[in-house]
Amino acid sequence: TRTPVNVTVTGAAGQIGYALLFRIASGQLLGADVPVRLRLLEITPALKAAEGTAMELDDCAFPLLQGIDISDDPNVAFDGANVALLVGARPRTKGMERGDLLEANGGIFKPQGQAINGHAADDIKVLVVGNPANTNALIAQAAAPDVPAERFTAMTRLDHNRALTQLAKKTGSTVADIKRLTIWGNHSATQYPDIFHATVAGKNAAEVVNDEKWLADDFIPTVAKRGAAIIEARGASSAASAANAAIDHVHTWVNGTADGDWVSMGIPSDGSYGVPEGLISSFPVTTKDGKYEIVQGLDINEFSRARIDASVKELEEEREAVRSLGLI
Ligand code: NAI
Repeated sequence: TRTPVNVTVTGAAGQIGYALLFRIASGQLLGADVPVRLRLLEITPALKAAEGTAMELDDCAFPLLQGIDISDDPNVAFDGANVALLVGARPRTKGMERGDLLEANGGIFKPQGQAINGHAADDIKVLVVGNPANTNALIAQAAAPDVPAERFTAMTRLDHNRALTQLAKKTGSTVADIKRLTIWGNHSATQYPDIFHATVAGKNAAEVVNDEKWLADDFIPTVAKRGAAIIEARGASSAASAANAAIDHVHTWVNGTADGDWVSMGIPSDGSYGVPEGLISSFPVTTKDGKYEIVQGLDINEFSRARIDASVKELEEEREAVRSLGLI
């Protein structure tokens, strides 16, 4: 029998946690033949709720689930972690300035980065879901100098998936027909969903659409503001689709992209496409054998350049802000 993979999930008692844990335990994160051990991290007042979720996980009798540990101590929860999903974060509350938001999240992601540095397994892969995801990933990464920087990633797969469906609807196709779509930049309202390199049933998506006004005034804002639209409709934020995207992100990272296709991941820039080195920004990536690579050589037109630059500028400002707070 295989040794189980340790998967640490923070914010385990939250909405995304509830939509995520059962799918991890059923084998959808890593593969239907990979046993897992769940390590749940919560803040002390939410430990009881996490225990309730663990009871339900027990009651599913998942054959792949080899155990569940629950802790409010990051040093315990990240001990031996092979995969870490950092979901718990401090949300922006009314009247909160960006500086306060970044500082509050620094208080979460810095100690978690330190705990990962000190206790995680050598092959640790980290996905940050909790917002502001890109900059939270940067904070955790900076606190983990002994972990290779590229193991810290931020989630833009939900944006990617949202864009796939919007494009499929517009073109009367299905998501399975669409390849090579890209989300660039920050997981925020400035993100840029790029269809210029995408294909719909093998044809260039921008040519199939042939409607720059739709792109600028409909597609891009619909994808970027989808989170707010879900809250407006459901009265609660997107949890199942966010959990689904987290599953997709890690599954692709571990198991590879399909031939001729790519996905979007927030990853430390190597300077590609003019994105300053070290910023955790979304790029088109292919993955193989547990490693990812940025897709190189794409022509970036003027329309795309301006939008990528605007989102990257926001990431630089966030990096400056956490730098001046001493968080990185
Ligand atoms: P939630 O509020 O239901 O759950 C968050 C959980 O995190 C709570 O149970 C809380 O106790 C826990 N938590 C807070 N601080 C913690 C700490 N220091 N250690 C461990 N746990 C801690 O929120 P929900 O809906 O599950 O969302 C979680 C995060 O995911 C939010 O920041 C949200 O903005 C973000 N998100 C990101 C998306 C993306 O595409 N990157 C999409 C959707 C949500």
